[in-house]
Amino acid sequence: MGWSQERLESVARTRLGGAKLIVVANREPYIHRFRDGEVECIRPAGGLTTALDPVMRACGGTWVAHGSGDADLQSVDARGRLRVPPDDPSYTLRRVWLTKEQEEGYYYGFANGGLWPLCHQVYARPTFDPAHWQAYQEVNEIFAAAVLEEAQGGPALVFVQDYHFALLPRLLKQARPDLVIAHFWHIPWPNPETFRVCPWGPELLEGMLGNDLMSFHIQYHCNNFLETVDRTLECRIDRERFAVERNGQTTRVRPHPISVDPGLAEKYLSDDWEQRAKQLRKRHRLGDRTLLVGVDRVDYTKGIPERLLAVNDLLEQHPEWKGRFHFLQVGAPSRTHLPAYRDLNDEVQTLAERINWEHGTPNWQPVVFLNEHTGPEDIFLLYRMAAGCVVSSLHDGMNLVAKEFVSARTDEQGVLVLSRFTGAARELTDAVLVNPFDVRQTAEGLLAALTMPPDEQRRRMRKMRQQVDEHNIFRWAGHLLSEVGRMVEPTSTPEPLGMTPPSEDEARALLARYQSLDTLRLSMGIA
Ligand code: F6P
Repeated sequence: MGWSQERLESVARTRLGGAKLIVVANREPYIHRFRDGEVECIRPAGGLTTALDPVMRACGGTWVAHGSGDADLQSVDARGRLRVPPDDPSYTLRRVWLTKEQEEGYYYGFANGGLWPLCHQVYARPTFDPAHWQAYQEVNEIFAAAVLEEAQGGPALVFVQDYHFALLPRLLKQARPDLVIAHFWHIPWPNPETFRVCPWGPELLEGMLGNDLMSFHIQYHCNNFLETVDRTLECRIDRERFAVERNGQTTRVRPHPISVDPGLAEKYLSDDWEQRAKQLRKRHRLGDRTLLVGVDRVDYTKGIPERLLAVNDLLEQHPEWKGRFHFLQVGAPSRTHLPAYRDLNDEVQTLAERINWEHGTPNWQPVVFLNEHTGPEDIFLLYRMAAGCVVSSLHDGMNLVAKEFVSARTDEQGVLVLSRFTGAARELTDAVLVNPFDVRQTAEGLLAALTMPPDEQRRRMRKMRQQVDEHNIFRWAGHLLSEVGRMVEPTSTPEPLGMTPPSEDEARALLARYQSLDTLRLSMGIA
């Protein structure tokens, strides 16, 4: 039987046995912001939130995240909670508030200035600043307090997301040894030589070994993690079971390649998609020319300049293609507070202008760069309109754009040009696989996308669609839940999944317990 939202729903019920599901991820699935004096609710760019939202819709529970929108505070109750999605409330979003200084040190500083380049190894030098590390520890403690409050003293499975929260599992386990904790690391894990430059490596690993299950996309990252732990900490490594034992606790290490909800394509590609496609072509002066697309956050791991150089090379090698296609890059601005990201944004703008200047005419610009937040309706429309989608990450844990593109092609047409250095390349072997550092090879990949006969497209796309259909996001979550769900102690009176507000007395007792961070730190023995 295949995996669907309904099957995951039933697995969640039996495996959790009434325990709460609490997901912790820095990024929230719905952001409220002010636009022209009105509050609007948007979906952030990035694969994590798109992938996990359907899981939460199926399982219910609470998603604890940083409240990052300027209208977020206006949209929650006194405890920072609201029910989402707005059009079909099925789970609770608990927003955690951070000061500007905390966001600067924890998110921009340690997570994205240190761990992000450290794990991706794309020649951006990681920076490690003691003030950022301080903020990272502080924010992990703030999230620990919020999760403990949400768990309300009862059984819970806490599902931690990503590199923002390496310390959180240990903090939770120390406060509540009975909590079952699983952690999914959405980005690569480097080899021990690379990792050892991090001054607080042992502390990060110690934090992660608070998990019952530590999961990565692929086996290679699991191997790197186990090697890193082995070389850094006193512990017992069980290579048979792929587990680490330290201080009486066992952490299993497993690969679980993340995926997408194949049903999203149908949801976003409404019946009027062809009409909307015409409007979009008009808006960007695309005429009826062939379209190649790229969809990314503007991030130096995604290889955006490399693919533009490939477009340039293609036009130089094959001038017969001038005037006949557009390369449309959706580049959602991301982390622009960091100089490396601002510089990249400028670099991509400049490169696009240079290519357009060199090859373009008053009626035809080869590169169209949409440097703005773009909603999923337009993104799926572009996937569907394109002859090919280009994913040229220099190093990527998975890259869900590749899988989204495949899921959008119910017509079994379209070519995926995919970097070999993505996790997705291990599953989508019928893509045109390229090394993005090799400009000529990537240009040939683009040419293949422009010229591949429909039968060949169908043959490849059919196989990739089968892979994504079967290995979908519900299967990912179902397998993860099954692996750790059996460790959750069943409650005597199973509660329905989802948020049950605490009584006044319970709320007061909890607040007293976790009111000040200092108290929490002391109770966990952290200086
Ligand atoms: O998967 C990596 C990741 O950093 C996610 O944690 C995140 O949601 C996504 O990329 C987008 O980045 P950000 O949340 O920093 O905008």
